[in-house]
Amino acid sequence: MPITHRHLFGPGPTNPYPEATEGLARPLLGHLDPEFLAVMDETCDRLRQVWGTANTRTLPLSATGSAGMEAAFVNTVHPGDVVVVAVNGLFGQRMCDVAARCGAEVIPVEHTWGTPVDPERVVAAHPNPAVVAAVHAETSTGVRSDIAALGEAVRAAGDALLLVDAVTSIGGIELRADDWGVDVGYAGTQKCLGVAPGLAPFTINDRAFARRVQRPQSWYLDLGLLGGYVGEAGGSGGRTYHHTAPVAMVSSLHRALGRVLEEGLENVWARHAEAGQQLQQGLEALGLELFVDKDHRLPELTTVRVPDGVDSAAVRRTLLERYDVEIGAGVGEYAGSLWRIGLMGPNARPDAVTLVLGALAETLGR
Ligand SMILES: Cc1ncc(COP(=O)(O)O)c(C=O)c1O
Repeated sequence: MPITHRHLFGPGPTNPYPEATEGLARPLLGHLDPEFLAVMDETCDRLRQVWGTANTRTLPLSATGSAGMEAAFVNTVHPGDVVVVAVNGLFGQRMCDVAARCGAEVIPVEHTWGTPVDPERVVAAHPNPAVVAAVHAETSTGVRSDIAALGEAVRAAGDALLLVDAVTSIGGIELRADDWGVDVGYAGTQKCLGVAPGLAPFTINDRAFARRVQRPQSWYLDLGLLGGYVGEAGGSGGRTYHHTAPVAMVSSLHRALGRVLEEGLENVWARHAEAGQQLQQGLEALGLELFVDKDHRLPELTTVRVPDGVDSAAVRRTLLERYDVEIGAGVGEYAGSLWRIGLMGPNARPDAVTLVLGALAETLGR
């Protein structure tokens, strides 16, 4: 059965960069083939650049962003540790659940959905937590939080590790893990990096690695064991089998990262910023109301209030069936009252803005 081409303008996955698709189609190599190991090493180097880190332990975990979240917590949270989680949407809530399963004493710092993380409230929540966790780009609400400010506040308050979710920010908006004091970070491939879902770019610095759980509850995500698999010190020497690397996905990520770095990270961020701004202005020109204040909106993911009397699901269905345009619904209590429109990776372009605005305008009869 032929598969329809869709314009993936939801919260992810996005359409891949052509280079990512080419990477998938390359002849398959063995996962310990020296040629593949060179691709893996270069992928880790490229990931360091998009993370803004010099961390040796920067790698693509072989699973989706949620596995990145699991890996971050199971490797750093010891039973009984105090973990402060900034919660301003679904993914902050999920962090609380994951941390609790590691035996942490979780202190959620609740924020109104649609607002950014408040560093002062987060550091005031406990005098000496082991870990402070936050989401950089909350995909459930379209909010960007200031991780630089949070990192500064966390460092000033004590020696907690800062654990950050960059699933929807990496490759789309400014991200500087080292400058911002991020100790542990995880991301996903299917958003602004413009690759299919399936890998979790991950980074952990020496400070966090030294404090890690020696025998975490997850064998698969044990960073101590994974070191041998990606080549702990960089370089291909002494590589040992841990699991069969998803060779085609790594090759795809490798190519997409090459493309992003060739365009230039700052140019890629600017392209996302411009597309997001054009979309947001266009939505307001259609008389639609945006959910997030101007200062805290993500360019790559815009949340729009569904107008009164409009059937949210019916509009999404029409967009899909008539225009092959996918947009997302809201989540949680906003499931029926918000739309989420993503312009990520190759879709952060003016032609995508025009298409989604035109399709929405026609569907709404505006
Ligand atoms: C901010 C954030 N964190 C974590 C995840 C989980 O990633 P995945 O669905 O790839 O497992 C997502 C997915 O949308 C996300 O947006």
